[in-house]
Amino acid sequence: MLLTEEETGMLNGDKGPAVQKAMQILVALGESFGAERLVPINNVHMAGSSVLVAEEAGTRFVEDIRKLGGTFITRVTTNPTAVDPVRWEEIGIPESDSILQTRLTDAYAGMGANTCNTCIPYLVGNAPRFGEHMAWGESSAVVFANSVCGARTNREGGPSGLASALTARTPEYGFHLKENRYGKFLIKVETPLNDMTDYGTLGYFAGKIAGQDTPVFTGIPTDPTLEQLKALSAALASSGAVSMFHAVGVTPEAPTVEEAFGGGEPDKVLVFDQAEKEKAEAALNKEPSDHVDWILVGCPNASVQEIREVADALQGKKVHKDVALWVTTAGAMYAMAERMGYIRTIEEAGGVVVRETCPFLARSRVIAPKKGYKTLTTNSAKMAFYAPGQFGLPTHYGNLDRVMQAAINGVWR
Ligand code: F3S
Repeated sequence: MLLTEEETGMLNGDKGPAVQKAMQILVALGESFGAERLVPINNVHMAGSSVLVAEEAGTRFVEDIRKLGGTFITRVTTNPTAVDPVRWEEIGIPESDSILQTRLTDAYAGMGANTCNTCIPYLVGNAPRFGEHMAWGESSAVVFANSVCGARTNREGGPSGLASALTARTPEYGFHLKENRYGKFLIKVETPLNDMTDYGTLGYFAGKIAGQDTPVFTGIPTDPTLEQLKALSAALASSGAVSMFHAVGVTPEAPTVEEAFGGGEPDKVLVFDQAEKEKAEAALNKEPSDHVDWILVGCPNASVQEIREVADALQGKKVHKDVALWVTTAGAMYAMAERMGYIRTIEEAGGVVVRETCPFLARSRVIAPKKGYKTLTTNSAKMAFYAPGQFGLPTHYGNLDRVMQAAINGVWR
């Protein structure tokens, strides 16, 4: 790789051992992907901020970087952790995770991170701008940033994100280069997309076909909500390893089909119609019985609007006594929703608004048996996709209305 004089100095230790280690990580990464140089950045979203992922070894690595004098020189936000900082004990999170998580979060904060601990950094003060080069982790946020915002990032892991935050550099390959940002295949959407769950179902369908390729959608309404686009982004990055999509007439790099494909032809053309939508929904509904015990809304983390919709559904009602309803969100969203009275409505009805974690990044394999949960019911395609394999719970999957009916009635219909 071609390094500038300053970068060569960093690699030689001119700026201390933490920066030297970081440069070694970035150069090794860049060389393995054929990058010719590093690109300057000022925006990192850190994956690996949950101790479920980092465990003791990863936590010690971050602490050691801090002890070596590591300081973040870019804007840094952090992904969800394994712990709700306030209600962890009540919702079944092990104390050992709470202790370890405090160490990891403190280490990031000590180096200068904004420990917002959410997968929707773009809603809590880290909104990417068009064309901005960044080093983001968290697959759903990466797809959202590349596709909806037109920013440029690969899917970074914990160590490479940390290295970028210490050096304000990332290797220039993959989605940093315009030629890699064009669509590969076309999906014609020929069925109405009515709510965020339908967008998630579409994302699940497309992700399964895509692998790492970039899909181009036609037929998506020109006025999707932010929540619908985040559901689509999350699902694409779950059933597939997608980092970007184009929706013609919606996303900024796809004003026309031709521009989305960079003047080239799609490798293949597929149709997402009512029959495919129903097939995809059925594949995400793994639980044959009507038994409901654990309900999750807020994957990706719930916006204030979504929290409001849950509160509206619970007005004058109660969550069924045998059901635990989790609404997962960022601390900043919680604060706003609290001010609006939504949190009180949800909690008086018997639900819990969980901050800074989710079933995927908390130790659900411990929480579920401790609490007696045998199924997971959700309106999120991403969570429905991961729950069976990741923490062994079969899923009910449907839109928010259906999920909230299940919360109130205690059965899946
Ligand atoms: Fe966010 Fe957890 Fe879903 S990190 S995207 S709420 S799996």
